[in-house]
Amino acid sequence: MTAVLAEELLGDPVDRVDGPLKVTGHAPYPSDVTMPGLVHAALVQSTVGAGTITRIDTAAALASPGVLTVLTHENTPALPEGPPSVVGPPPRFPFRDDRVVHHGQHVAMVVARTLEQALAATRLVEVDYAAGVPVLGIDNPQAQVLDNAYGMDLRRGDVDAALASADAVSDAVYTIAPETHNPLGPFSTVACWSGNRLVVHETTQWPMLVRQTLAAVFEVPESDVRVLVPYLGGAFGAGLRVGPHTVLTALAARTLNLPVKLVLTRQQMFTSVGHRPETVQRVRLGADRDGRLVAIDHEGTSTIGIEEGNFEPVTLTTGNAYACPNVATRDRQVRLNIPNPGNMRAPGSTEGNFALESAIDDLAHQLRIDPLDFRLRNYADVQPQTGKPWSSNALRECYAVGAERFGWADRDPEVRSTRDGRFLVGYGMAGVTFEWYQAPCQVTVSICQDGTARVRTAATDLGTGTYTIVTQLVAGLLGLHLARVRVEIGDSDLPPAPQSGGSGLAAALGAAISDATANLLRNLLNLVHDDDRSPLRGRQPAEVTAGSGGVHLTGDPSAGESYQQILSRHGLAELTASGRSTPNPEGTALAPAGPFAARFAEVRVDEELGLLHVVRIVTAVDAGRVVNRKTGRSQVIGATVMGVGMTLMEQTLFDHAGRIANATFGEYLIPVHADTPELDVVFVGERDRFHPVGMKGLGEIGVVGVAAAIANAIHHATGRRLRSLPITIEQLS
Ligand code: MOS
Repeated sequence: MTAVLAEELLGDPVDRVDGPLKVTGHAPYPSDVTMPGLVHAALVQSTVGAGTITRIDTAAALASPGVLTVLTHENTPALPEGPPSVVGPPPRFPFRDDRVVHHGQHVAMVVARTLEQALAATRLVEVDYAAGVPVLGIDNPQAQVLDNAYGMDLRRGDVDAALASADAVSDAVYTIAPETHNPLGPFSTVACWSGNRLVVHETTQWPMLVRQTLAAVFEVPESDVRVLVPYLGGAFGAGLRVGPHTVLTALAARTLNLPVKLVLTRQQMFTSVGHRPETVQRVRLGADRDGRLVAIDHEGTSTIGIEEGNFEPVTLTTGNAYACPNVATRDRQVRLNIPNPGNMRAPGSTEGNFALESAIDDLAHQLRIDPLDFRLRNYADVQPQTGKPWSSNALRECYAVGAERFGWADRDPEVRSTRDGRFLVGYGMAGVTFEWYQAPCQVTVSICQDGTARVRTAATDLGTGTYTIVTQLVAGLLGLHLARVRVEIGDSDLPPAPQSGGSGLAAALGAAISDATANLLRNLLNLVHDDDRSPLRGRQPAEVTAGSGGVHLTGDPSAGESYQQILSRHGLAELTASGRSTPNPEGTALAPAGPFAARFAEVRVDEELGLLHVVRIVTAVDAGRVVNRKTGRSQVIGATVMGVGMTLMEQTLFDHAGRIANATFGEYLIPVHADTPELDVVFVGERDRFHPVGMKGLGEIGVVGVAAAIANAIHHATGRRLRSLPITIEQLS
């Protein structure tokens, strides 16, 4: 059995190459951008949860010092829509008519010479509403329900018959509160037109989608729109769609023929860029006496906004989680007068895993089988939905290595069996199977006459390490020191890259870079093919190795020359090659695998006081090759803390009018250091066979499985099965 990830697949723990720029304040975030003549926008948002605007009077605002314009639905032209993307259609554009569909909907944008003038004038915009009764509450019978509207329901075998004959059944309902992702950097747009050309500095995970969208909305060629985001202060899916605030800022800039800047406030972040929706799930599992799953039935219900199509795929990963002949999943959405939910780290999978892995634990407990053993008995040797062999799957190793580091074998399986003073001690675990996702990607790699390399691609770095791993990959493939690789990203004029999302970017870049560097080496060998002065004359790519700043015959470092030598002899300032990754899993013999993980949690519960301490979490992850063990680990520990927040604290609270009552960092609770358990992360597995350099995704899986591992540990400690997140003091005492 492969144990931990082989050393050669576990990349150096290089510090972030963009770190010094960031900590010295020299990295320009979109909200830092300024330019001559820049004016400032501020938003007015609806104070009712549903209805129509009956009067909107901007006279006082327009007369206020410094105010240049006020955009409302009354003076905004009908604009075409942007294109749909892999996460669905564009968000509903609120200035199309007089309707209000949620509290906090944008109803006016004020633009003034200074930010203070703009903010002051927002208070002078008078809006009257014919308020309706907002439809709120996931169980509201008045709400419209979408049933399999997105065609992702799944059925294999006969679930009902299998449940009827099962020896043990777990049948329960799980609820999770809505949550809001809060990247530190507030989302910002700076838009500047020169004639019909538009430059936008934008907080986004997806510059190419912003470019496509603004080109479609303003009916200009895509080549006339440039989107820049060299740095951004975090994003967990909020930057995967192009919000109305971006379109409005670009519209204001065009209307005024001045550069306009908008920075969303913290409160506006809660209503403008999505959140994790509230969910209710019912999971029914059946197993035989030997602990073999005979049926999985999973129904997920999530909330969605009015006239929105970006939905939560709650049951997405259920069908491939276990070898089970009878599986059915159903996803439904309930339309409410809420700001549209969106993608928040591992959307759907996070919630679905909590319900499924809690139910698995329940069933194992009923059958008196160790929960780890129960999962191994139902391990999916091949991808259950297709029957194809996985391109890689080290879930077994995740279980084994994680259990060993955690000390799982020492656990007394009886509930309420372990005490430490006034605390009941519990150990729980969860397994994670995650979806594969990758999108086409292009890069160029150049060798310059000074012996440095330059990489260009329109990807972004959320702060998670894209600059760093791109540097490492290119340096490794071209045999250069890290300091001699320059990475240019965050610009839609560069070769098209997909979103940093869906845990797909790193692997997409890895594949494209591997292609580009191979092309570059081939071009170099073509240059010297008939060159008598080169020791590499007439050689093929398979015969040479890149290293020490040049190329040499494999096995003979003395028979080679530096990139500089080759370029200068041929009078070239630089040599550039393109590379692309076009992952297409259709028709392949393998099932391209996403990452896998096992999580183990230890909790201490004081039942008298309802106190819960999560003491430690061990995570074993199979993400294929990990380019940088430090940024890779950081992804997992950051996401694990997010999972702890989800489990113990986070909830976006809507009041009876649909207003978010805790839209501040003071009132929306997230873990601080004192709430954070000891975190242990270990990478296991091997090179993925579907990917040219063996990588899989890593960005999202770290949040998945935390909630179930903690809830299962609480059950072990106390005998209570808690199925509602966040787990609060009331549930424990
Ligand atoms: Mo992530 S929700 O794919 O940014």
